[in-house]
Amino acid sequence: MKGAVSFGLFSTAVALNHNKLDHVPQHALLQDACPLDSILRDGQCHIASTTPSEITFKSNITTSLDEARLTASKQANFPWTFWPKCFSNNETPEPYCLFSDQSFANGRGIFIVTTEPLAYGMLQKQAFKNPKSLYRSNQHANPPFEQYEFPIKGRGLVANKTLFRGDQIFASTPLLIADPEAYNLVEPERLELMYLGVESLPETSRKLFWELLDHFKGDPVDDRINTNNFEIVVDDVSQAALFPEIAMLNHDCRPNAAYFWDEETLTHYVHAMRTIQPGEEITISYIDSERNSAHRLRRLERNWGFKCSCSACTAHPALVAESDARLHHITEIVEMLNDWTPSSSATPEMAEAMISMYDQERLWAYHATAYKHAAEVYSSFGKKYEAIKYARLAAEFGILDKGFNDRDVKEMMKMASEPEMTWSWNKRVGLKKGGCGCGKAH
Ligand SMILES: *[C@@H]1O[C@H](CO)[C@@H](O)[C@H](O)[C@H]1NC(C)=O
Ligand SMILES: *[C@@H]1O[C@H](CO)[C@@H](O)[C@H](O)[C@H]1NC(C)=O
Repeated sequence: MKGAVSFGLFSTAVALNHNKLDHVPQHALLQDACPLDSILRDGQCHIASTTPSEITFKSNITTSLDEARLTASKQANFPWTFWPKCFSNNETPEPYCLFSDQSFANGRGIFIVTTEPLAYGMLQKQAFKNPKSLYRSNQHANPPFEQYEFPIKGRGLVANKTLFRGDQIFASTPLLIADPEAYNLVEPERLELMYLGVESLPETSRKLFWELLDHFKGDPVDDRINTNNFEIVVDDVSQAALFPEIAMLNHDCRPNAAYFWDEETLTHYVHAMRTIQPGEEITISYIDSERNSAHRLRRLERNWGFKCSCSACTAHPALVAESDARLHHITEIVEMLNDWTPSSSATPEMAEAMISMYDQERLWAYHATAYKHAAEVYSSFGKKYEAIKYARLAAEFGILDKGFNDRDVKEMMKMASEPEMTWSWNKRVGLKKGGCGCGKAH
């Protein structure tokens, strides 16, 4: 039995009762609106005890966006431009709703299809609470690239000035954030939320959405999202997000740019990972490109419907095999470096060899990992300045690939300033001394 619910769209529906408020600590706005002993209803505070608490949603109401806008505008300090529309059924622990804010990010707008607690959690991020935090986001004028139509693979972005490692290519807020769990709704209801969402975007953003390419032959909205979305995480929950400008970047398994998502500014950043010359295509990796060629081919074909055409996939079989062997060798070295038992054979030379293999593979977007291993192994032998050197490199590459709030990045920053204070410091020195101490094999 499915029940279409609309988020208290008409006046008799009590959108929130006391219990609900208790469950949703992020509901600051509505919480602030009324004294503790009362609830918000019809835009006014009512003493809680006099209101029926069991009616949370009113079912089966179809309204136009215009009506939803009107309802929202009548509510003082309502955070969304449109009154949310929701659906639920037996499979959904909570209703999934469409939340849309046209004023987000200086008028770029955003729509969010998820549960009420998750959406109100997003409202607590700097991006909503402090619009000034978005001063770097969505500066899409005068970019360092031009759109280019490639013969077979289609459009892509080509640098029109020299970019150096760390140069920002994009910082964009999503047009939409969609909860994959919303697939628990029946198809027509989920699609209704998505279509209304696209309709609810400001005109410029709506146009950007429809200009996106769709690789599959299904529903036009779903196809554009499935083809172009990035997985992001907000409050430990995985969501799909769409950044139409960034979606123009093509895949390469040896990309020259990397991206990360910043949860506070709800912004996706793309930076150059090495020098990119004018005339060179700017690329990112859609997949984990540290995996071997067969794995890469399968993933790309299955998820995006294209054949991996980057040089590391299309080279002579002998070269592809050599590349796969290097990737395998990297995995083996990582395993040895991760061994912190007394019998570990880890040495700094292993880390140096691994970094050399990353260079050889042109895996610029992944160097942070190699540098971190090197910093740790040097630190473990009490080699202060080698540890600092690689910690600095790991921090820089890590920020570009994992973001400035990443745990590894913070750890590397700490090691760069005080290697003696990190967990790995001298950890292997004691082992060698405690063991043979003579420098000879046992
Ligand atoms: C909801 O609407 C559908 C179609 O309009 C109808 O078949 C169904 O009976 C309605 N359900 C309720 C609970 O009113
Ligand atoms: C690069 O191309 C963009 C258009 O995509 C243009 O706005 C920008 O001015 C160009 N930059 C240079 C340095 O030519």
